Amino acid sequence: MTTPQLDPKLFAEGPKRDSRFDVRDLWAEMQNFDASDPRLINEFLHRQMNEEINGMEISARNLADFPDAPWELRMSMARQCWDESRHIEAFRGCFERRGVEVGEYPVMNFQYRVITNIPSLIGRLAVQNRSFEAAGIDAIQNEVSEAARREGRTDLDELFDGQLADEVQHVRYANVWVKKLMELGGAAAVFQMTKAVSLANEALKIIAGDAATMYPVAEDVRREAGFTEDEIDVAKRLVAQGTG
Ligand SMILES: [Fe+2]
Ligand SMILES: [Fe+2]
Repeated sequence: MTTPQLDPKLFAEGPKRDSRFDVRDLWAEMQNFDASDPRLINEFLHRQMNEEINGMEISARNLADFPDAPWELRMSMARQCWDESRHIEAFRGCFERRGVEVGEYPVMNFQYRVITNIPSLIGRLAVQNRSFEAAGIDAIQNEVSEAARREGRTDLDELFDGQLADEVQHVRYANVWVKKLMELGGAAAVFQMTKAVSLANEALKIIAGDAATMYPVAEDVRREAGFTEDEIDVAKRLVAQGTG
């Protein structure tokens, strides 16, 4: 299926992938298996591996694009690159044990394209770490790890438990630094962040169409990741309205 090119005002160019990968733009073009389809977990593990590649590529781009960022923040972003690289290998191991090869299912690179289109570091951290990764925490906590436990897939248990601890850390350092960067940058920083969040919301609506999956907010884990009670309430309200 060919799609019209995504609006370059909202999406940067995608990351490179080798010829094994079949890259799609929209959620509707992906292989959306039914919940009862045994291929669903294989497709999820493969798709998630590519999301982890996106996470590593974004953190690496942040390091390259913002060389003057505070050293402690650069160290956190470098650690995130390392964490995401381990996640890539962990997901790959899980699907290869299930007989799936790299490239067997289509993948999407919208995370990289949305985030690297944002010109400010505060905007990227607000969208990538505080929004995409926080939503990932909700997903892991609520559905995926529960399903893995129910079905007795022990390698998935280990994968998700290990990943959750790292993702909490990625959200937490962004929560700390978004606040610090706002203090340092004043009104201009707040404006950059707000603009980034609204552009990303617009971009996500194009990618997801009506198909965005909303998971209940994992309150305890979000608290651990440094969200305030007010921020958790806002996230819960957005989920209740179906617009988070
Ligand atoms: Fe990750
Ligand atoms: Fe992460």
